[in-house]
Amino acid sequence: MRIDIISAVPELLESPFRHSILKRAKERGLLEVYVHNLREYGLGKHKQIDDYQFGGGAGMVMMPEPLANAIEALTVQRRYDEIIYMTPDGTTLRQSLANRLSLMQNLLIIAGHYKGIDERIREEFVTLEISIGDYVLSGGELPAAVLVDAIGRLLPGVLNDETSALLDSFQDNLLAPPVYTRPAEFRGRKVPEVLLSGNFKAIDEWRLEQSLERTRTRRPDLFRRFEE
Ligand code: ADE
Repeated sequence: MRIDIISAVPELLESPFRHSILKRAKERGLLEVYVHNLREYGLGKHKQIDDYQFGGGAGMVMMPEPLANAIEALTVQRRYDEIIYMTPDGTTLRQSLANRLSLMQNLLIIAGHYKGIDERIREEFVTLEISIGDYVLSGGELPAAVLVDAIGRLLPGVLNDETSALLDSFQDNLLAPPVYTRPAEFRGRKVPEVLLSGNFKAIDEWRLEQSLERTRTRRPDLFRRFEE
């Protein structure tokens, strides 16, 4: 899979893809991530990319021309399955959406800044708008990194144990069960007996019960979806 990201602050996206699972995905040739500096498409001597909003009001808006030029410089080279704009008014990111996007070949992500991007760019180019939650961040870079992480770890061969992503929280609308490692007793707290029993059928049953109970008490909204 190839992911291109257009950003006015590409520095914010340097570190997330250089470590751990996403680093491994890149090293294994399963994922390529390219960050493009919007400033290079800025207008005039000062490489301007934002301007005051029509109608007045605080906050700058990202201008349409630099964005259109950046997008078109990429779309002439390849076809994108989705052109995604990270925005708090988009569809909330869920595991099911990450699963769907992990099956694609080419994604283009636009990370906005300031007050947002000119609406006409959304109308003209964007095919999918994604929010990572009901709160406002100062730019789309961290949301873009969250999205790439959620997708990247699902690519076959990225996680060592092929099945491990399938057992994550949310894959079946259930939260994951609690996990333990050594020692078997820590400050008087013992690991549940069944996990030490070697009885894998009993362990699976215990984990499912714990998942159900956690989901029912912590996320009744998810639990309802599981029951449907
Ligand atoms: N940009 C700013 N806040 C955001 C959010 N919650 N999700 C996606 N993009 C954003």
